[in-house]
Amino acid sequence: MAAVLGLLVAAIVGITFLAGGGHQWRKHRGKDSREDPPPPYPWMHYQRLDGYYNGVRTLVPYSQYEPENRWNKSLPAEKLSLEEVAKLPTQPPLDPVPYNPYPDWKSAEYAHDHEAFHQCYLDVAEKTPAPEIYAYPGLPQNLSEPTYGSYNELGLEEEMCFDRFGRLGPYGYGYNESQGGLGVGNTSERAGSDKVFKQAGYVNFTGMDWGSAQQRCRGKNEARFTEQQASGKQRIQRQAYVLRAWTGYTWTAHQVVTLRAMINELSLKSGGEYDVHLLLHVKNNSLPIWASPALYTSTLRENVPEEFWNITTLWSEQQMMLYYPEPFPDNFANMAGSSVHGVYRSAHFALQWFSQQHPEYDFFWNWEMDVRYSGHYYEFNTMVGEWAKKQPRKGIWERSRRFWIPKFHGDYQKFTKFVEKETEEKDISENDVARSGPVPIWGPVQDFPNRGMLAPLNETLPPTTYKADNYTWGVGEDADLIVFNPLFDPALTNWVFSWDVTGYNRSLPIPPRRAAIITVARLSRRLLATMHEETWRMKHTMFPEMWPPAVCMHHGLKAVYAPHPVYMDRDWEVGHMDEVFNYPPETWASPFGWGEHNLLGSSFYYNSGFSGALWRRWLGLWENGEGGREYEERGTGRMCLRGTMHHPVKFE
Ligand SMILES: *[C@@H]1O[C@H](CO)[C@@H](O)[C@H](O)[C@H]1NC(C)=O
Ligand SMILES: *[C@@H]1O[C@H](CO)[C@@H](O)[C@H](O)[C@H]1NC(C)=O
Ligand SMILES: *[C@@H]1O[C@H](CO)[C@@H](O)[C@H](O)[C@H]1NC(C)=O
Ligand SMILES: *[C@@H]1O[C@H](CO)[C@@H](O)[C@H](O)[C@H]1NC(C)=O
Ligand SMILES: *[C@@H]1O[C@H](CO)[C@@H](O)[C@H](O)[C@H]1NC(C)=O
Ligand SMILES: *[C@@H]1O[C@H](CO)[C@@H](O)[C@H](O)[C@H]1NC(C)=O
Ligand SMILES: *[C@@H]1O[C@H](CO)[C@@H](O)[C@H](O)[C@H]1NC(C)=O
Ligand SMILES: *[C@@H]1O[C@H](CO)[C@@H](O)[C@H](O)[C@H]1NC(C)=O
Ligand SMILES: *[C@@H]1O[C@H](CO)[C@@H](O)[C@H](O)[C@H]1NC(C)=O
Ligand SMILES: *[C@@H]1O[C@H](CO)[C@@H](O)[C@H](O)[C@H]1NC(C)=O
Repeated sequence: MAAVLGLLVAAIVGITFLAGGGHQWRKHRGKDSREDPPPPYPWMHYQRLDGYYNGVRTLVPYSQYEPENRWNKSLPAEKLSLEEVAKLPTQPPLDPVPYNPYPDWKSAEYAHDHEAFHQCYLDVAEKTPAPEIYAYPGLPQNLSEPTYGSYNELGLEEEMCFDRFGRLGPYGYGYNESQGGLGVGNTSERAGSDKVFKQAGYVNFTGMDWGSAQQRCRGKNEARFTEQQASGKQRIQRQAYVLRAWTGYTWTAHQVVTLRAMINELSLKSGGEYDVHLLLHVKNNSLPIWASPALYTSTLRENVPEEFWNITTLWSEQQMMLYYPEPFPDNFANMAGSSVHGVYRSAHFALQWFSQQHPEYDFFWNWEMDVRYSGHYYEFNTMVGEWAKKQPRKGIWERSRRFWIPKFHGDYQKFTKFVEKETEEKDISENDVARSGPVPIWGPVQDFPNRGMLAPLNETLPPTTYKADNYTWGVGEDADLIVFNPLFDPALTNWVFSWDVTGYNRSLPIPPRRAAIITVARLSRRLLATMHEETWRMKHTMFPEMWPPAVCMHHGLKAVYAPHPVYMDRDWEVGHMDEVFNYPPETWASPFGWGEHNLLGSSFYYNSGFSGALWRRWLGLWENGEGGREYEERGTGRMCLRGTMHHPVKFE
């Protein structure tokens, strides 16, 4: 969401250069470079990375793998010649194996610490166990490396890759409707995919009812989640994974497969640790969905595939107007020009409301329909949560505002030390700029003029000073907010929604605040409760990408940017990337302002062109003159990627 509107034109120029990894200007250059305008952005000089497109015929064990990236040091490898391709094995040289990121439920260790795990099934009769997914135990040779973030730091698998059949086949992808599948993907290149289906079978999803399956699963595992645990047993936290859809949404087969994957991996295979919910925005404000069960049901049935009816909750803006009544005075600037209850400006109202209806959950994941993950959901969501829990409070805001580029900064520990040093040195000089809030942030930031805010919770007050703390405060404390892009200070950028701040006295300076691009996040019950109370009692709210981080800042809650691996379509020099991403020379040059074009070639940003292109190529679709069945069959086969978050994927 949230575009920097002023940049739209530039972004469109960028995307035409980018689509499908584009780079058309380069191709023509040799002929007559005078005809070609210079590329509009400096980063377009970097070589295109092509290792992504090496297929399953080039699979090698991780020990033999060499990433393609040279970080602008030399030209990337030439494409394989036809003769070289012909010499490759016709079938993938490695076999797909079940991919299992779950704890060993049957181990003595697990039984010692937890109540017993009970396996879950798709059907009432318990004939069909929740399916497995499959990965190749290696990587395509010369596959590109992520440029910022890391697998290793988050504890994510980096030595295996997923192709479309192993990843999605168990959910109805790649086989015919006559067999209970969805039909989609059944005509693409598939050499060796029989090895997946031989293990997975063709699961018949006709008549599937995911809501009831989730309920049964949680029910039989209830003992693991109850507050009162037998001595020596740890309660497992429960998480709601909330996917935000709307009436009129087009449910493609790809979207169905994606949602099935989320439910199966997060909920059924974990014995009910997560529940997947569809939070459906009813756009027609004239429909009193809360007044009539029949109207509620008919609206639901018209807008959601039957298999997901029982995981869906409806809401509307009209309902939020009732729940959080006007007036909401004192807006600093409403750049979107819409009402405060409009979903564009207050998508979080619905989540706040939902969290109040569901006190049984410890955490709520806010997920968008245009995100795709090529890895395993349980692994990603659970490891990110555990990583965030381990993070010390000291320096957490200062680290989280930076892109961590391992090739440049070294490992995360080094990066932590570096940020500490930098924080000491920059503390004074940064007073010169229009920074908002103290550096470093240490505990609740409430020392600014305003006309009233809730007091912070006692448990969020720092036990000692920043200087005295030895990276111990916060270790083992669950994060209240986990985001997937840096937590930046809007006052240091020209991000267009920076002043969409409501309910604070306008005669006083605007409150200090933070924001993270893309609203995909995990929020704790405690954070949502605070947001809720600040909204109804104090009439406070902000633009959706700013509100949860700002509440964390004001109330001393634990917020962190999880440095998940992000890929770039070009071979950036990392020192230059650090300058451009982390130290923009001017406010407007920030990657969260007009400098956002620098992220057009990233696999995860709000307006990235590369993310969707890479995902579609992985699915075997044709993209700007490349990819598709013949291309894969004549070349090295279908792609195989490590777990990667793709956003946005606007079509498939
Ligand atoms: C990248 O490589 C090119 C060609 O060698 C060079 O001209 C350019 O300065 C390099 N960019 C950076 C940021 O190092
Ligand atoms: C991988 O890169 C090496 C070195 O550039 C090259 O010789 C080799 O052909 C590449 N292999 C594939 C499968 O692209
Ligand atoms: C789907 O059906 C077609 C014929 O309608 C058949 O040729 C094809 O093999 C089937 N696909 C699969 C994956 O079984
Ligand atoms: C799939 O299940 C449905 C409903 O139970 C059944 O009618 C259909 O025959 C099954 N299809 C296959 C291929 O087993
Ligand atoms: C692929 O699936 C579609 C949709 O179910 C079906 O119409 C088509 O016959 C299938 N084709 C093959 C070759 O499997
Ligand atoms: C919204 O719902 C009302 C009441 O049912 C109906 O009269 C109206 O046509 C609907 N509007 C749209 C745009 O569907
Ligand atoms: C949903 O749940 C209800 C009862 O909770 C059940 O009667 C119904 O069959 C379920 N399935 C669908 C698709 O609505
Ligand atoms: C928070 O701490 C203050 C001062 O120590 C105390 O008066 C207050 O009762 C505490 N509040 C809660 C909710 O524990
Ligand atoms: C932090 O470590 C130093 C040196 O090891 C020690 O002197 C100090 O007491 C420690 N501080 C705290 C708050 O534990
Ligand atoms: C807003 O702040 C101004 C300046 O301090 C003060 O005069 C005014 O009463 C405040 N308004 C409200 C509604 O608190």
